[in-house]
Amino acid sequence: MRISVSLYITLFALLFATTNASAAVALTTPELDEIEYPEDEPPTIEEINLGKTLFFDKRLSANQTQSCATCHNPDLGFGDGMAKGIGSEGNSLSRNTPHIYNLAWAAVFFWDGRSASLEDQALGPIQAEGEMNMPIEDLLPRLQQVPFYQQQFKAIYGSATIGADEIARAIAAFERSIVSSNSAFDRYIAGNKAAMGPASIRGMQLFEGKAKCTQCHDGANFTDDSFHNIGLGIEDEGRQKITHNKRMAGAFKTPGLRNSSLTAPYFHDGSVTTLEEVIRFYNKGGNTHQNKDQLIQPLNLTDQEIMDLVAFLGALTSEVTVDRPTIP
Ligand code: HEC
Ligand code: HEC
Repeated sequence: MRISVSLYITLFALLFATTNASAAVALTTPELDEIEYPEDEPPTIEEINLGKTLFFDKRLSANQTQSCATCHNPDLGFGDGMAKGIGSEGNSLSRNTPHIYNLAWAAVFFWDGRSASLEDQALGPIQAEGEMNMPIEDLLPRLQQVPFYQQQFKAIYGSATIGADEIARAIAAFERSIVSSNSAFDRYIAGNKAAMGPASIRGMQLFEGKAKCTQCHDGANFTDDSFHNIGLGIEDEGRQKITHNKRMAGAFKTPGLRNSSLTAPYFHDGSVTTLEEVIRFYNKGGNTHQNKDQLIQPLNLTDQEIMDLVAFLGALTSEVTVDRPTIP
């Protein structure tokens, strides 16, 4: 009985969620105590540091030319500044390198959401031929040879042999520590009314109002953790490839917008180079696309309003500096 009641509640919630698209979650500051850690256990500083070292270590790519940080470069907003990534063999990737800010709160990973956890995600790029091209069975003995790793993995995970799961856990622990939460916007909503200037304040009102950005970019990290086709094009089938649902053709994950001012170029294909152009794209209602989300409509924003929105996105900037680790 209990099971069926909760099932009905879940069904009702799902139905409600899909029909009531306008109920945006309030824009706010992310709370550290809302992060769901594996086994409810926040990582130790040692585990975070191990993950950081792995993140910067080029041993993770077969030809030792690329680390995670080559593409997710902390000096470039954890992106690579290019429209599309370049793999360790010099090949061009099909999508833009996303930033990795505040993924501790995220529920879906990759532009098409094909991973459900950071642990699951981490082993993808290591093994992907187009990226680091490093089979895990070759990576394990390579890391095992390094006394620092041998000792750290043993101390943290209790086993003398380094395993793939532990590599993923350490990298994910580091990624969850990349938290941006002290922007002008955060200080403003905490009560410091001088933290945002008048343009940013008008931009915030537009973001939640006339420009309707919070239909998709809402909550503490400005994302609904969902997928939408915003009318960019159809060359990349996006979410459809994962769900086999035609309605998801050309739909991609709504990226979080904190630190957008640092992460150009934009969109899954890196096709837009400035935030102003992003907003002009939304203002015209996107490109014509048979599968475009009905939430994407012309906005009739004035030039002043467009610049106010740009100012507001700028007020979401709070850089995360990472001390580069010494590679053992
Ligand atoms: C060659 C460049 C490159 C390298 C090296 C690389 N990435 Fe990525 N990363 C990308 C691209 C491109 C995507 C988007 C791919 C997609 O969505 O299909 C991505 C996606 C991600 C995401 C998902 C972000 C989100 O918002 O969903 C995470 C997390 C991530 N990478 C972490 C890592 C880690 C950890 C490593 C090292 C083990 C790594 N990446 C190595 C280019 C790279
Ligand atoms: C229907 C949902 C939806 C609405 C409404 C929406 N967005 Fe987006 N936004 C997305 C999705 C999905 C993407 C990624 C699309 C892609 O790359 O194919 C995105 C991408 C972006 C990006 C690029 C981020 C990056 O890292 O590449 C910015 C900036 C952005 N949106 C700002 C806005 C602003 C400002 C508004 C209001 C004018 C807005 N969005 C309205 C869903 C939406």
